[in-house]
Amino acid sequence: MAQIAIEASRPYAVHIGPGLLTELPQPDGPTVILSDSTVAPLYADRLSNLRTSDPIIVPPGEDSKSFATLERVLGELANAGLDRSGTLLALGGGVIGDLGGLAASLYMRGIEVIHCPTTLLSMVDSSVGGKTAVNLASGKNLAGTFKQPQAVYADVETLGTLEIEELRSGFGEVIKSALIGDADLLEWIEPQTEACLAGDPEVLTEIVTRCVRVKARVVSADEREAGRRKVLNLGHTFAHAIEQVAGYGEIPHGVAVAVGLVLALEAGAEIQLLEDSSLPGRVGDLLEKLGLPRNLDELRERSGNSLAPPALQRAMSLDKKSAQGSPRFVLVRRAGSVEPDSPLNEGLIESLLTPR
Ligand code: NAD
Ligand code: GLY
Repeated sequence: MAQIAIEASRPYAVHIGPGLLTELPQPDGPTVILSDSTVAPLYADRLSNLRTSDPIIVPPGEDSKSFATLERVLGELANAGLDRSGTLLALGGGVIGDLGGLAASLYMRGIEVIHCPTTLLSMVDSSVGGKTAVNLASGKNLAGTFKQPQAVYADVETLGTLEIEELRSGFGEVIKSALIGDADLLEWIEPQTEACLAGDPEVLTEIVTRCVRVKARVVSADEREAGRRKVLNLGHTFAHAIEQVAGYGEIPHGVAVAVGLVLALEAGAEIQLLEDSSLPGRVGDLLEKLGLPRNLDELRERSGNSLAPPALQRAMSLDKKSAQGSPRFVLVRRAGSVEPDSPLNEGLIESLLTPR
């Protein structure tokens, strides 16, 4: 089992290993589990040795990252009689983590949250670092808070029941983490994509551990994204626009991130920031082996959505990372070295988004 420290204003640990759910320590105060209707029947009983109220169950999927669902969750926390000493235990993927973290930061001005991520994506990224959000019609994750959890327990056994498409999606964020801060991880994954997709527990544990180490370094240095943490948004200006234009939930987040990575690499090559000209092809090949689209046109074909450039550009101008309506991008110098907060001229963005 691995344990990685996040040196936030209030430090906490990310525990990674098989079987962790059955070993969770009893949280402080009254405790409520938040989960979705796919995950709860699979894993809620692994927490049955804990004293908790009836779980709050929401529908699976991105649509649950909404104000309507948030309001329902807050109401159910009150109905369960949770007071300020309470803890919300978020059991599920990134949707449950983002929604649960936001509910915990709002309920009675803040109760504890513990994350038990059950998707690859939520283990390597969303459960760590304290970002919470729901989506608005006008943009992805536009309403949210920073709410660091008390602890994170990533039970890698839960990955065994993940749909293959959701496992693939997680690899979008895995490749992102490697490009940001662990160039060797790319090399490590390249020869064993089959084991990755077969869900080999040892391989996945190593991947989760290495990605969380990358995130821990970044978040520990810049908890609230004043500067360095922006690197974690690599690929995300493109990805959030793709998700919004396609309709939330139509294209999994990690798949949109994968295509966003390719576009960011192409942008870096165009402005001659990218020092390693073999990297876009190498990342494209790796994405293909992992069953992810290797470029925007392939995503258009697979999703049956035209993802029209003007609509994507409009969505980008409203992105959280925009400054005065001009979108900002994270660009890559070489694997393991990225440049946050870069503007790109509109002509270049348009040509990157234009079908070839
Ligand atoms: P998700 O939570 O929607 O889970 C994907 C699907 O897998 C759901 O249908 C879920 O019910 C199912 N599922 C979850 N665990 C399972 C398991 N062990 N076995 C079988 N099925 C399981 O999606 P996700 O990819 O985990 O998360 C995506 C969300 O995370 C997006 O909303 C994205 O914006 C957010 N995100 C947040 C951050 C952050 O820093 N807060 C970072 C990255 C992504
Ligand atoms: N997923 C981006 C961040 O946590 O900052």
